Amino acid sequence: MASASSAPIGIFDSGIGGLTVARAVKRELPAERIIYFGDTAHLPYGDKSTAAIQAYSIKITQLLLDHGCKLILIACNSASAAAFELVKEYVGSSAKVLNVIDPVVAYLRESYQEQTVGLIGTKQTVNSQVYEHKVEALRCGIKLKALATPLLVPMIEEGFFTGDISKKILKKYLRDPWLQDLEALILGCTHYPLIKRAIRKYYGPLVEVIDSSEIVARALKGFLEFHNLASTQDQQDDYFMVSDFTESFEASTRLFFGEKINLERSTLWD
Ligand code: DGL
Repeated sequence: MASASSAPIGIFDSGIGGLTVARAVKRELPAERIIYFGDTAHLPYGDKSTAAIQAYSIKITQLLLDHGCKLILIACNSASAAAFELVKEYVGSSAKVLNVIDPVVAYLRESYQEQTVGLIGTKQTVNSQVYEHKVEALRCGIKLKALATPLLVPMIEEGFFTGDISKKILKKYLRDPWLQDLEALILGCTHYPLIKRAIRKYYGPLVEVIDSSEIVARALKGFLEFHNLASTQDQQDDYFMVSDFTESFEASTRLFFGEKINLERSTLWD
């Protein structure tokens, strides 16, 4: 069992967007070694069926276990919604498994009882109603209003996140009658931290914009410490794999991770 604290953390996502989570993890836990897998051959997960995402997630999980990961973090909201329980069952006692949804739900319980909270995410995340079910189970009066905002991922990937076009698309979604009268809005997708500033500007100070990547990184830190799994020594370099390589994927690592990183093409699907 790869449970030694010096073992790496495996993080996977449908593509490069999950690097926002890896980046937050790196900030919170600089001593941890990350092994990242972006399933660029199959993105976007947001429009895929649950069965397809489950099959991809299991195969990637096995690869990360083969690399000796002590913990698997599902950085993708869509995969967290579709495959977390299955991945957990598959991994058993070989490693720990975390998703990007539970830490946010725990944060809502602390901060938003009896209040109304919005959520934006992919169709997969929103249609799964996973946030609603988890929030309902808390029985603390939180009303969750979720809206699928499928144009935002391609918009961000094409580099539109500050100008007029992105403002218009964002406004169109955020003005939706269903998303009104909120106390907070959850950014339920790997890509959305890149448009956090624009969303904050839209709402002003009265609505908290909840960046799940930061909450997840803090929760991961607490989890590793609680289980005596936090790394205490210098580690090898992080390792970033993708299932399909293009120059443009590598170039966009700068966008999502804050610096350009080398991506290695994995043969997982060959
Ligand atoms: N990573 C996905 C998520 O967080 C967004 C991109 C995709 O649809 O694959 O839901």
